[in-house]
Amino acid sequence: MKKKKALVTGGAGFIGSHLCDRLFEEDFDVYVVDNLSKGRIENLNKKVDFFKININSPKFLKLLGILKPNIIFHLAAQSSISNSLKDPKKDFQTNLFSTLKLLEKSRKIKIEKIIFTSSAAIFGKAERLPIDEKYPRNPISYYGISKLCSEYFFQNYYKSYQMPYVCLRLANVYGPRQDASGEGGVVAIFANNIIKKTPLVIYGEGEQTRDFIYISDVIDALIRSLDERTIDNFNIGTSTQTSINHLANKLISIDDNKPVRIMHRPQRFSEVEKSSLSYQKFSRVTGFKPKVNLDKGLKKTINYFYQSIN
Ligand SMILES: NC(=O)c1ccc[n+]([C@@H]2O[C@H](COP(=O)([O-])OP(=O)(O)OC[C@H]3O[C@@H](n4cnc5c(N)ncnc54)[C@H](O)[C@@H]3O)[C@@H](O)[C@H]2O)c1
Repeated sequence: MKKKKALVTGGAGFIGSHLCDRLFEEDFDVYVVDNLSKGRIENLNKKVDFFKININSPKFLKLLGILKPNIIFHLAAQSSISNSLKDPKKDFQTNLFSTLKLLEKSRKIKIEKIIFTSSAAIFGKAERLPIDEKYPRNPISYYGISKLCSEYFFQNYYKSYQMPYVCLRLANVYGPRQDASGEGGVVAIFANNIIKKTPLVIYGEGEQTRDFIYISDVIDALIRSLDERTIDNFNIGTSTQTSINHLANKLISIDDNKPVRIMHRPQRFSEVEKSSLSYQKFSRVTGFKPKVNLDKGLKKTINYFYQSIN
């Protein structure tokens, strides 16, 4: 039987590259579009058909017309909240306008399903945790705004044209291959500090919380989204919160080497205080349950960072 074609935008990035590895196991032909603005060619599985294209460019839409994928995982994004605040126009172009153009083209080439990575940032500041799907959406960053507007486009394309979709609002994903630069995830940044013996910088008191979910659990959720009966928006977290202080101390305690210092800097604008996402709705529909606890996930992540510097 002919293999199905899956296109992963942003497939050279952190989550996208792990997704590609798994899609081969699921017997897909895998195509990646990434402009390598943040993704890395070394992340890519050798079997991937790679196109170094900007999703904002007409070349991308032309390629879609030629490839005619069955499934699209749309992950390419300007993925930094602080960059969205510095340059809202760029965020809008990449995260919203390109998504709309992709949807329109996907409708024309009659794709079977499109799966989109949205974010906990659509909810803004929450008073009741863990946040479920009924919680009011009130983004406080341009990144959150463009993700939320994209979700509305997915929903409405489904209503108007019956184009099946899943939007997964991801909590704080961590694990191997995550960018450890200033704009990366806090786990990757701290893990990198620890192995380089540089201080861990915490913004504010460090009592702000996040819901850290390990990469393999997120890939599991993305794969479960392929089920044709699953069409909707879902929160993907672990339903638990961890403070940044706790995270820093846990990472330091995992590492056997000389402990590093923790430094505090003023709290950043547009940061939510507490966050945790309930996965119950997705669990009811697909049986999903996160499997990797924080201790195990952090150990795997630190080991990866050690290996990658050797
Ligand atoms: N990592 C998280 O904690 C998290 C949480 C919530 C949502 N998300 C979403 O998941 C998706 C993947 O996130 P990630 O952590 O892997 O980020 P990432 O930055 O590692 O991956 C994004 C990829 O998109 C590519 N890209 C960016 N702009 C592009 C453009 N104009 N054209 C083509 N490619 C472009 C980058 O080069 C990169 O490889 C993003 O949509 C992000 O918003 C991530």
